[in-house]
Amino acid sequence: MAILVCGGAGYIGSHMVAELLKEGEEVVILDNLQSGYKEAVIGGKLYIGDLRDRAVLDKVFTENQIDSVIDFAANSLVGESMIEPLKYFNNNIVSVMTLLEAMRDHKVKYIVFSSTAATYGEPESIPILEDDKTNPTNPYGESKLAVEKILKWCDAAYDIKHTVLRYFNACGAHVSGKIGEAHNPETHLIPLILQAALGKREKIVIFGDDYDTEDGTCIRDYIHVTDLANAHLLALRRMKNGGESTIYNLGNGTGFSVKEVIEVARKVTDREIKSEVQGRRPGDPAKLVASSKKAIEELGWNPQYASIECIIETAWNWHKNHLNGYK
Ligand code: UFG
Repeated sequence: MAILVCGGAGYIGSHMVAELLKEGEEVVILDNLQSGYKEAVIGGKLYIGDLRDRAVLDKVFTENQIDSVIDFAANSLVGESMIEPLKYFNNNIVSVMTLLEAMRDHKVKYIVFSSTAATYGEPESIPILEDDKTNPTNPYGESKLAVEKILKWCDAAYDIKHTVLRYFNACGAHVSGKIGEAHNPETHLIPLILQAALGKREKIVIFGDDYDTEDGTCIRDYIHVTDLANAHLLALRRMKNGGESTIYNLGNGTGFSVKEVIEVARKVTDREIKSEVQGRRPGDPAKLVASSKKAIEELGWNPQYASIECIIETAWNWHKNHLNGYK
């Protein structure tokens, strides 16, 4: 039986495909290449098409023996979602609804769904637990939370089991050096710092140093993309062994400030990285750190690339050898 990876040509999805192939799984990929790259798909059977296109889904489910789905296909930029909320609600919600309809009709019973720390909004306490209040502060987080609720009702009505994985800050690149993070435009902290190290940009701008944190810059929980991918595999196995639908946070449980991340990147790259403090970026919470105790205990999840040095090393290895991403 095959596993369908939706959005498998994207950053996290392509690392998922690599992880599944390593485990000897049969993999089918569906991606519209809106933000993914054919070159990022290192194996499996790739279909190019949109999840909102029911005919494409019927073709994929008819031509392959698929028993489970891992869904990464989404728009995921917080800032853009504030400006174009309808784009986010359409692409992130309608796509999963169409997928679930097709899963129901083709009798596919398991889905692992890519969610986000942005479902919590401004946290009430740190570390964040799965049953803490969800109150998204942007349409991106809202779109993911809406899907989480849709999944709940689809379990009740159609017995489609789901595992929702709420990622904190995904980063790093595959240890092989073959796949990595290639967003265009890039908005994430670590790739931007590394572009500054490579001289592709003059400096890294720090968005605010007047937060209520030790050095005044925002604190995030950075988690390696391969460790994220591995958690999806464990979640799928758990459901196939009879596990009920549930939600897990995925982070390392340790927070690093923007200034700390820049400092580590200077050491790892041994390059000068200029930085400049500017104003806050709207919508940024001061501190987001996960409790992943539930995933560790219930899935046996054991992140292999947990240190921030190791995460930045793998990202650096990718960026310095792919100055123009996959092009
Ligand atoms: N930052 C800078 N300068 C930059 C870019 C980022 O100082 O040029 C700071 C941000 O203000 C933030 C931290 O670096 O404090 C991390 O920013 P990223 O843009 O890398 O990541 P976010 O924390 O904003 O977003 C991530 C995911 C989202 C998810 C969100 C959950 O990318 O998909 O976490 O809060 F929704």
